Amino acid sequence: MADKRGAKKAAARKIERPTAIASVVSGFPMIKNVGLRQVHVADTLICNIDGIHGKLIYRGYSIETLAEYSTFEETSYLLLYGGLPTREELDAFTASLKAERALPLDVLNSLIRMPRTTLPMDVLQAVTSTLAGHDPEISGTTREASVRKAIRLLAKLTTAVAAWARAREGEAPIPPRDDLSHAANFLYMLTGREPDPEHARVFDVNLILQAEHQFNASTFTCRVVASTRAHLYACVAAGIGALSGPLHGGASNEVIKMLREIGTADRARNYVKSKLDSGERVMGMGHAVYKTHDPRALILQDMAIRLARRPGGDRKWFDLSQAVEKSAAEEFRRRGKSGIYPNVDFFTAVVNTALGIPPDLHTPVFSMSRVSGWCAHIIEEKFAEAQPKPAIYRPLAHYVGPGSTIKSLPYVAIEKRRKAKGN
Ligand SMILES: CC(C)(COP(=O)(O)OP(=O)(O)OC[C@H]1O[C@@H](n2cnc3c(N)ncnc32)[C@H](O)[C@@H]1OP(=O)(O)O)[C@@H](O)C(=O)NCCC(=O)NCCS
Repeated sequence: MADKRGAKKAAARKIERPTAIASVVSGFPMIKNVGLRQVHVADTLICNIDGIHGKLIYRGYSIETLAEYSTFEETSYLLLYGGLPTREELDAFTASLKAERALPLDVLNSLIRMPRTTLPMDVLQAVTSTLAGHDPEISGTTREASVRKAIRLLAKLTTAVAAWARAREGEAPIPPRDDLSHAANFLYMLTGREPDPEHARVFDVNLILQAEHQFNASTFTCRVVASTRAHLYACVAAGIGALSGPLHGGASNEVIKMLREIGTADRARNYVKSKLDSGERVMGMGHAVYKTHDPRALILQDMAIRLARRPGGDRKWFDLSQAVEKSAAEEFRRRGKSGIYPNVDFFTAVVNTALGIPPDLHTPVFSMSRVSGWCAHIIEEKFAEAQPKPAIYRPLAHYVGPGSTIKSLPYVAIEKRRKAKGN
């Protein structure tokens, strides 16, 4: 039965996923490739990815270098300004982030009043739109004003995630501190305790790893909205919506759900097998661009090992993740599927859980990091920094429905219409 269902789904996927078609229709090049795979839609100066060799570069610097030497503040500066800061520039940037940490009182109050069942990504999207009304430069059109707006969002969304984590439990939000780094301050606002320095650094690196990833679905969404010249908050709110989906930023939460469902390492193989037999996906595996190891996942895996091996460290999630990784590799191999490896969300789930971050906050945490990459792209799009001039995105669609431009459908009076099958 499961096999039949799997075969049916696979057949349906084949229909949904035609191969790329390139031809010329009435003078326009027609490139149809579902999901825009392999299609270059713009130039960018921000991020370079080599999915075959597993390389990720922010503004010329490898992710391994940044994870080893940089901080989230410095990486955000790099993404927004295009180069690494001097000491004075970094100090000034860090000071502006700290000065923007507090939420306006009525934003905080509206967040506290939201139904406790509100999904955290919906809270974040609502807060982003509400913050727009508090930005004195909302209509500012210069690059400098855009960077200042980005700094405000970067600082305030982090506070909003921590505030919601507490408010939904009926606890008072903890005001930010200005003597802690961005990463350490978040963990402090979440728990009320100053974090252990190793935890703070692991979280800092986690934020660096998630800050940017070129034209993924949410960044592309931000750029499409930016191309209409909507303001930065509108672009970011749209990006948050895109990131919330389980095939994008929501995968980390799904990974923890999966590990919980599996429960013990000895059940991993059967779980993976039954998912694949029924045509379902193993969450946290596979990537649209990387056909080898995701370089961020490798760094996160190392950090997950370090956290698990610390005295008092909880090994459970790490051991389970290892069992799933091994079983998935074996099952994918057995089924002749290559190029599917654990992605960033797989190990983010393990690391964030070891840091005490609740599973449904993993995607909001991803957003508070990715907002630096989103804003860099929004600015690049708005100010045409990598292209000759700004242009609104407007692809074409190939109409495959009934009627045509030559012969449209006749309008049938409502009394004469027959109920369509299935309605
Ligand atoms: C991320 C993802 C959407 C990228 O997929 P993609 O590049 O579009 O690849 P496809 O969806 O075309 O998948 C290619 C094949 O690999 C399989 N595959 C890819 N990821 C898989 C997974 N996690 N579990 C099972 N099979 C998977 C697909 O079923 C497909 O097989 P088919 O050709 O027989 O239909 C996909 O790997 C996925 O859904 N992963 C799980 C969700 C996740 O972790 N998302 C976070 C991404 S950072």
